[in-house]
Amino acid sequence: MTGLGKVRFEDVVKMHGTFAALKGVDFEIEPGEFFALLGPSGSGKSTTLRILAGLDMPTRGRVFLDDEDVTAQDARERDVAMVFQSYALYPHMTVAQNIAFPLEMEKKSKGEIEPLVREAARKVRIDHLLDRRPGQLSGGQQQRCALARAIVRRAKLFLLDEPLSNLDAKLRLETRAELKRLQRDLGVTAVYVTHDQEEAMTLADRMAVFMEGEIQQMGRPADVFVRPNSVDVAAFIGSPPMNLLPGRVEGEQVVVAGKPLTTAPAGMAARDVIVGVRPGAVHVTGTGRAATVEFVENLGDTAILDLKLDGAPIRARISDGRPFADGDTVAISVAPQDIHLFDAATQKRIDA
Ligand SMILES: Nc1ncnc2c1ncn2[C@@H]1O[C@H](COP(=O)(O)OP(=O)(O)OP(=O)(O)O)[C@@H](O)[C@H]1O
Ligand SMILES: [Mg+2]
Repeated sequence: MTGLGKVRFEDVVKMHGTFAALKGVDFEIEPGEFFALLGPSGSGKSTTLRILAGLDMPTRGRVFLDDEDVTAQDARERDVAMVFQSYALYPHMTVAQNIAFPLEMEKKSKGEIEPLVREAARKVRIDHLLDRRPGQLSGGQQQRCALARAIVRRAKLFLLDEPLSNLDAKLRLETRAELKRLQRDLGVTAVYVTHDQEEAMTLADRMAVFMEGEIQQMGRPADVFVRPNSVDVAAFIGSPPMNLLPGRVEGEQVVVAGKPLTTAPAGMAARDVIVGVRPGAVHVTGTGRAATVEFVENLGDTAILDLKLDGAPIRARISDGRPFADGDTVAISVAPQDIHLFDAATQKRIDA
């Protein structure tokens, strides 16, 4: 282990002909941080990771590892280990040989390699599978083999590109928790690409939300969730997504679909807005405005109600859907502090 695992991108642009895959990306990652690159398909996440790994060159801008400018260095010169979406294991080699491969490349002796392989395999709990071939492993075990191969490198920087996307839902959850534990134990910096906001929310210390080759917002997941800075970020983070309704601030009211929905922030001038409300913040019991239940989706421990509020679709997440049926009328209300307001023209958050 040589470096600290600190990362900096400075105004990184990546062009493919006239198409800008990255339009000037800046960020800094501290040693030991778990940093997620989150965003929809095609937003530039893998491009960013590949540039960080040294597998692609930026068209403009600079990349620093531990304060050293590595922009011109190729992948072999950088102290990074990468895990791809497809595990990229060698099918004809055993698990032990797969894990040992990076060490063989470094021309380490057999005596040195054997304990390192065993130790890495133990960390990801596949030390009982060392003699198998990848074809004889489950998806999750193959994933962990790929992780072990990254661990033996003893790199200070782990780059992971959608590493859990091939796993089924249950295994994904388990492996996710293990990955976090492993990253903490190893004390490495992890840069983790995903389009799954739940993955980013649960794993990351901080995240960057990518859209169309730009970082839209960066911060701790909980902060981004609580204060999305644009309609696009608001729509992308949270499941089910935030309700986003055209509306207007008028005097003391936030008006949606022609009638007041809740109280406006004090002193705000009349203006057109997009009103954001998380489904969990839409209350359907007590007093409020009449809405019609279009559809009840029972999820077991919670339920989603698809509602129509004077023609406007709005979703509520509630703890128990059983009291409700399609066609019912309910009274909905939203607390003023649960409202997110975005400018109708710029789509940017309005701060009260
Ligand atoms: N070699 C290339 N030539 C032209 N365009 C490319 C090339 N590589 C990537 N792109 C484009 O750059 C954009 C960003 O690609 P990138 O692979 O970084 O997206 P991503 O965020 O990782 O998406 P996904 O979640 O689908 O993996 C996409 O629009 C893609 O089509
Ligand atoms: Mg990608």
